[in-house]
Order: sequence, then structure tokens, then C-alpha cells
Amino acid sequence: MPETNIHTEFHRFLKREDKEQLLGQKGIVLWFYGLSGSGKSTIANIVERELNQAGRFTVILDGDNLRSRLNADLGFSDEDRAENIRRNAEVARLFSEAGIITIVAAITPRGSLRSIAREIIGSDFVEVFVKADYATCAQRDPKGLYAKASAGGIADFTGKDSGFEEPQSEAELTLDTNSQSAEACAQILLNYLAARSARHTGESHA
Ligand code: ADX
Repeated sequence: MPETNIHTEFHRFLKREDKEQLLGQKGIVLWFYGLSGSGKSTIANIVERELNQAGRFTVILDGDNLRSRLNADLGFSDEDRAENIRRNAEVARLFSEAGIITIVAAITPRGSLRSIAREIIGSDFVEVFVKADYATCAQRDPKGLYAKASAGGIADFTGKDSGFEEPQSEAELTLDTNSQSAEACAQILLNYLAARSARHTGESHA
């Protein structure tokens, strides 16, 4: 190992459990992924508002927002997407370790990228596939990007000239926005969280 002169320090600092106790919740990362326009940010917004109403402390890490600052130096090549996801996952990890319910909304187009995030975040990681096909997203086109891409104005556009791999069986949850409203999808996620939290409470009492 090369010498880095870096000396990490964790043991003196307040523990995760102390923060979770203060917040009355457990840290978790809900990693939303899917095509641009699939509904990731829309569902994240509904879920966050519902959780806030229920007294939960949340953060949304949205791909476009992070790319406007922390990741402003990155583009959409495979290498840059990998670095984008690595950074987003490291930030999400910091938040979840502070007891925060963290929602990431990023295309994360490949299984290998989801694996990077899962590896960084560990057992807090919940993979949520926001499913909508290219034609549906192109029809919605909330940001006008599909029209621009089809006119040749965007390089490496996901689903067109840059690939998107659907999960095989890795996703803990699939929210299909082709067939269900964003509100219904948000409710499925909230039900999942309630069940998971009941399970974990049961386990800690066992
Ligand atoms: S990821 O592939 O690296 O996970 P990320 O979610 O951060 O992508 O950013 C995607 C957002 O960037 C899209 O929602 C869209 O608004 C914008 N964008 C700009 N160029 C592209 C492109 N070539 N492909 C996909 N999204 C793009």
C-alpha cells in the first residue's frame, strides 16, 4: 500500500446510532434509476413530501442537480457516468450514515454502475427501478431532451446512442410508470418502507 498520510478518524466522533436516535429513524438510501423522463424525480418529490409530513428527515440527491455543481466537470461518457455514480453513492452514504432517508434519482444506466453504488453503500442500499420505455419517455419529454436528441443535438443520449440495461432480478422494487401514476408508485414505495421498518423493529426486539 502506498503511503497516503491520511489518518481516518471515526471512533471519537458521535456514532450513527446517536444520530438515528435523535431523528427517530434509520438511515437508508433509496436509489431510483431509469431513463430520463421515467418519473424518478416526480416520485422522489411525492415520497419526500409524504415522509416529511410523517415527521421524517429526508434528502433528495437528484442527478441533474448534482451535475450542476458537485459533478459539473462530468459528461456522459461511460467513464464520466461511472465517476458521477461513484460520487453520488459516496455522498448518499454520508447522509445515510447520519441517519437520513436519502433518495437518489439518477439514470444509473448499467448494472455495473448499480453494483458500484451497492458496494459503496452496503446494506442501506435499496435499488428502485423506475420503469418506462423509451417511446413513453420520448412522448412525455418534460425537458425537451428527446426531441433534441432525435434531431442529433445530444451526444451519448441514454436509450438512443448510449445503452440502458434493465435489471434482471437485482431491483428490490420496480415502479412501472407506464401502467401506474406517480402517486400510486410513491404509495408502493411508502408501503415498502413501512414494511421494512416493521421488519427491522421486530428483528431488534427479537
Ligand atoms: S447518469 O447516467 O450519470 O446516472 P444523471 O442522472 O446523473 O445520469 O443525469 C441525467 C440527466 O442529465 C438527465 O435527466 C438529463 O436531464 C441530463 N442529460 C444531459 N445529457 C444527457 C445525455 N446524453 N443522456 C442522458 N441524460 C442527459
